[in-house]
Amino acid sequence: MLLRRERACPIPNETDRVRRIFDKQAPKYDRSMARFERLLFSGNRAWACSRAGGDVLEIAAGTARNLPHYPQSATLTGVELSPRMAELGRRRAGELGREIDMRVGDAESLDLPDESFDTVVCTYGLCTIPDHRAAVREASRVLRPGGRMLLAEHVRSPNPVVRAIQRLLEPFAHRFGGDHLLREPLEALAEAGFEIDEVNRSKAGFVELVAAHKPH
Ligand SMILES: C[S@@+](CC[C@H](N)C(=O)[O-])C[C@H]1O[C@@H](n2cnc3c(N)ncnc32)[C@H](O)[C@@H]1O
Repeated sequence: MLLRRERACPIPNETDRVRRIFDKQAPKYDRSMARFERLLFSGNRAWACSRAGGDVLEIAAGTARNLPHYPQSATLTGVELSPRMAELGRRRAGELGREIDMRVGDAESLDLPDESFDTVVCTYGLCTIPDHRAAVREASRVLRPGGRMLLAEHVRSPNPVVRAIQRLLEPFAHRFGGDHLLREPLEALAEAGFEIDEVNRSKAGFVELVAAHKPH
């Protein structure tokens, strides 16, 4: 039986907390992300999205900033935890005249059938998805054999000075942004059975682009 205090003030789980953070950030997200992109992430969306094709699923799709970078022939589905971010994504799609089936959902347990996509894309999402390993396993489940996984992420730097700064900032980034600075997506991809095709690291190794595929 629940205590009265628990009923009045339930403890949110991490997924609820991250959803709330991004619902709140949504109106300011594009402006602040554009600043980071100019400084640190320039060209990365085009790198990832130009490699996508066929039925494409984007997880943690945010406000659909990747839309202009996909080939016109791709059929796009987005899954995003925050309803407010997803709504801005739909608005962007309308403005660009680009179709995307933008759904509110959890990348850790996708409401999508097995082997139904040719490509899964994630940009700056594995750092905030609470259980990023579960999301990578789900990406593998919904990919057809031979399907591609494309990432642009900030990751744990191999440079000891940068990594020390990341360690210092991690508690604040996590508390206020739901963001993890010390993750290593390549490990999650390997655990989920992906084969790595390309890795491109920049900015003292803390920005990583990855193209991988699900084996046949
Ligand atoms: C830093 S933003 C990146 C958004 C977008 N991918 C981009 O490149 O601009 C991280 C996004 O991940 C979403 N997210 C976090 N956990 C998620 C989950 N479990 N399932 C789906 N989306 C999630 C957040 O709501 C947020 O929109």
